[in-house]
Order: sequence, then C-alpha cells, then structure tokens
Amino acid sequence: MIKVSAPGKLILFGEHAVVHGRPCIVTAINHRMCATIDKRNDDKIVLNAPDVGIKNYKISLSELDKEYPKGARFALTAVKNFFRKYKVRSGLSIKTKCGFSSKFGFGGSSAVTVCIIKGLAKLFGIKISNRELFNFSYKTVLGIQKVGSGFDVAAAVYGGTLFFVTGGKIIERINVKTLPLVVGYTGIKADTPTLVKMVNEKKIKYPSLIDPIFNLSKEKVIAAKKALENNDLEVLGELMNFSHGLLTTIGVSCRELDKLVFAARKAGAYGAKLSGAGGGDCMIAVVAKKKRKQVEEAIIEAGGEPIPVVTNTEGIRIEKS
Ligand code: PMV
Repeated sequence: MIKVSAPGKLILFGEHAVVHGRPCIVTAINHRMCATIDKRNDDKIVLNAPDVGIKNYKISLSELDKEYPKGARFALTAVKNFFRKYKVRSGLSIKTKCGFSSKFGFGGSSAVTVCIIKGLAKLFGIKISNRELFNFSYKTVLGIQKVGSGFDVAAAVYGGTLFFVTGGKIIERINVKTLPLVVGYTGIKADTPTLVKMVNEKKIKYPSLIDPIFNLSKEKVIAAKKALENNDLEVLGELMNFSHGLLTTIGVSCRELDKLVFAARKAGAYGAKLSGAGGGDCMIAVVAKKKRKQVEEAIIEAGGEPIPVVTNTEGIRIEKS
C-alpha cells in the first residue's frame, strides 16, 4: 500500500497574467491532499473520496474510458493516463483525504492528480522525476480543465515558494522563509475557468489595454521576488496593493473581496490583495506579528473567515503507510 501527500497552494502575485505567458509567484501551504493506493486482485477500481462526495465508486478497468462523476474526474483520469503511458494495469483501491475544504481554491484537483500519479509510479516501481511528474500531471489537469497555467501543479510537486512561468517554462525556487500572511475567505466559491475565459475575451476585445496590464504584472512579480528574497514586508505589502489594483482593472475583483482587502489594510496590514481567479474565494494580507489579531478581527467584522495558513511548505512526499 502506498500513501502520498501533496500541498495545496496560494498564488501570491501574477494571477491571470500567468495564463498569458507572464510569471507568477506561488507558495505551497500546510493544508495537504493525501491519497492511499493499493492493488486489488480483481479488475475493479474502487474510489473513495468523501470530501468531494464519492463513496465506494466502482468501475472495471474496461470502463476507464467512460465519463466519471465530477468528484472522481481528476483521480480516475490520472489513473487512466498513467496506465496508458506506462503500459501497466491493475485493479486498485484508492482513498483520498483532503486537509482543506474543497470550497477553498487551494488547488485540490491538481494536488490529487499529482498524488495519484506519484503514488502509482511508486506502486508499479517506475522512476519518475519531479519534472516528469509536473509535465504529466499538468497535461492531465489541462485535459480536464482546458484552461490553466499549471502553477498549482508546480506547487503540489515542488513545494516551497516558486517563480513560475506558464506551463512550467520556468519553475524556480525562491529562497524565502514562511510568510506572515492572513488569509480571508469571502464565503463565495470562485469559478476559475469562467473568470479565465472572461479575461481572455477582454484581452481579445481590448488588446492594447489588457496587454500593458499583464506587462505591469510581470514587472510587479519580478519586484516581489526581490522583496521576498530580502524579506521586505513593507515593499511586499505595497506590491500587493498595486496587484489588487491591476486585478480590479481587469474586472476580476468583487465587492466581497474588496471589503476584506480594505478592512485588512485599515487594520494595519502592510498590504492586501485577492488571491486566485477572483470573483470570491480568498484574499491575502501581509501582516506584522503584532497586527495579526487586529487584521483577523477586521476580516471577520467585514464578513470574511480567516483561515490559518503556513506558507512555503514541502512538496509531494511518500508517507509512511
Ligand atoms: O482560482 P485559483 O486559485 O485556482 O487561481 C487561478 C489563477 C489563474 O491565473 C487565474 C489561472 C491559472 O491557471 O493560472
């Protein structure tokens, strides 16, 4: 039996622009996805993923090409692609357990894909490098989602805090410590593919307006990388404020996110911004230790839910089973 776990993620800078060839910065967080995989003596694949409503879902190996229920898509597509690529086959029992609610955009789908592929490689004795794991997992995720830069897959594989360019053209570890972040959830589940498509349509309609914003995003990511390396929280906060402004300009913020962002700033955060596709989900703020409690209270007061998060954590790992 093999047990693997991979971290969820938070994007710190560069969302949306990263879909269009610019860099972003992503950090792996302490909330992890875990998968347990075992071979079976029959030709069945049995999946238990209670966090996404899948209980004892059973299919035969010959049915792997059919449509799966929503909660089973990433895990079973990963199995199907793995069997195809490495020309192996076996009945399997798979259990997944997510250390965070699937309502948060912490990258559960990418983390589960990475866990299954890594776990199967271990189970079948196939050596797979982190680069191969990234490429294969990203291809699998993209096959299902159709859109996405792959930054969440990179965080699940490599962990740490990464300077990342679309599709993994650059995946570079940034030398940082854990960041003092406050994360606030708006209570709204975001729909990432819809927002990515909306930005894409705007870019087609107004290229001369949107492209310069993406170029500014790139400059800001480069500046943020420096600030992270220097542990300059003040500059990081200011860059977060710029960043939220740019994301608002392309139309992906919303009233609920703005409320939390402004409340955090008012309560003394160095800076705050939305994190991810926008339209809800989470915001992040860089906060001095002595201001943390104040900022968390301000987020609650503004209708949000603070989520305790540690950044810069370990990537994929085999757990003791
Ligand atoms: O919504 P999230 O947290 O998965 O972040 C999406 C970030 C985008 O840049 C909008 C999309 C992507 O795949 O990079």
